[in-house]
Amino acid sequence: MKEINIRRKDFETVDGAVKEAVNLVKRGYQEKQVVARISRTLKNIKIPFSAKDVYTAAKLRIKAKEKFGNLSQKLFFDESGYRYSTPALVAEYRAKRLKNYSIADVSCGSGLQLAFFGFFTDATGVELNKKRAYIAKMNITALNSSAEVYFGDAFEYRANEEVIFSDPARPESEEIRTLRGLQPNPIKLAEKFSDKLLAFELPPQMPPERVDRSFSVLGGKIKGEKEYTSIRFRLNRLAFYSGELATCKVSALSLPSGERVTSDDSKAELKNGKIGEILAEVDRTVVHAGLLENLVGKLDIDACIAFRDLRRTVLSVSEVTNSAFLRHYEVVCKAKSLSECREKLEQIGARKVTLRFSIDPEKYWDIRKKLESGLKGDKHIYLFRFDKFIMCTSLTEREWETKNKSGLNNHHAQI
Ligand SMILES: C[S@@+](CC[C@H](N)C(=O)[O-])C[C@H]1O[C@@H](n2cnc3c(N)ncnc32)[C@H](O)[C@@H]1O
Repeated sequence: MKEINIRRKDFETVDGAVKEAVNLVKRGYQEKQVVARISRTLKNIKIPFSAKDVYTAAKLRIKAKEKFGNLSQKLFFDESGYRYSTPALVAEYRAKRLKNYSIADVSCGSGLQLAFFGFFTDATGVELNKKRAYIAKMNITALNSSAEVYFGDAFEYRANEEVIFSDPARPESEEIRTLRGLQPNPIKLAEKFSDKLLAFELPPQMPPERVDRSFSVLGGKIKGEKEYTSIRFRLNRLAFYSGELATCKVSALSLPSGERVTSDDSKAELKNGKIGEILAEVDRTVVHAGLLENLVGKLDIDACIAFRDLRRTVLSVSEVTNSAFLRHYEVVCKAKSLSECREKLEQIGARKVTLRFSIDPEKYWDIRKKLESGLKGDKHIYLFRFDKFIMCTSLTEREWETKNKSGLNNHHAQI
């Protein structure tokens, strides 16, 4: 296993080359021209980074703004490393959660998560792909993190650290629902590092029971918390924490707010009910984690299930509650068919219509355009479908309070 060290002057040369390439790309230069210009500057470096790699890193630095904000201007990536790199929001949360332990990140990729670990604690990364191991070290250097990086195989790493963290590589473009095909394989890692605390990223599509079943092949020794993370209302991650790292059996976390609900929160009884005046769509992350009743119990809200299907659970609630796991809507009117919807959309002064029901993606814009065509109002309508179509406007907590204060809460024009 080889520790990766990068000379300061090599770091500066490559960083300078990527910056220059970013400028050239922004000015419209093609790959060939950029590579030709950059090649000379890289002659004497002792790290495996070609002019083509610099070009790729430059393109990804431009793209990375979405995922890493201002940090992106400092970072290095290859294509696959970028796609699977942990977003800063998650990396920071995870590092803070594990900050009291020394950590070995045994599949560190481009080193984003590793860099954040290094901000808070002693952290070492291991990466099987040589170029990516160098990229990880470049990122650690760029971010002034203290983490060390080794080029090698996770299964050959002799760990002194307390926690083994792994965010494994997953097959491309598959909705993975099992641990098969993950590299390094989490079950084999758990077996090898059986005396360590484990923190693993797993495919978020796996429900909690399936995670437990997968680890049960190890004879029931590995038990822990399944933490489902939502980023801005979208299921994004599942982390498994073993032993004393676990705080409960199952949890759901919403980022950036940091709001959490867990299997230890007491459950409310939830019945099916009528579609009331205010609806609350539940973040699918909570439902997938099996924590819907716990969320309603924790928030202590007056709620019943208005409708649910495989993708959506919508509650009828009596008021708007401040929770990142809920999106509130005010029901404006209902319709039996899309043509009736179109008529009513005009009457209620709609302009935009977002479809909030399962629909063949190819038909989405067709239907939406038909509904929106000729609308001259100013309202943005969210159209749900259960046994009827339900037209709603979104309702924030602030709007709700204002409505309550001005006594306008008796507003449901029944069209
Ligand atoms: C999803 S990426 C990790 C991303 C990382 N968390 C980040 O923030 O950039 C997974 C990485 O595991 C590496 N890998 C796969 N099998 C490995 C093994 N046996 N030992 C070490 N690294 C491995 C892959 O090369 C890949 O770069």
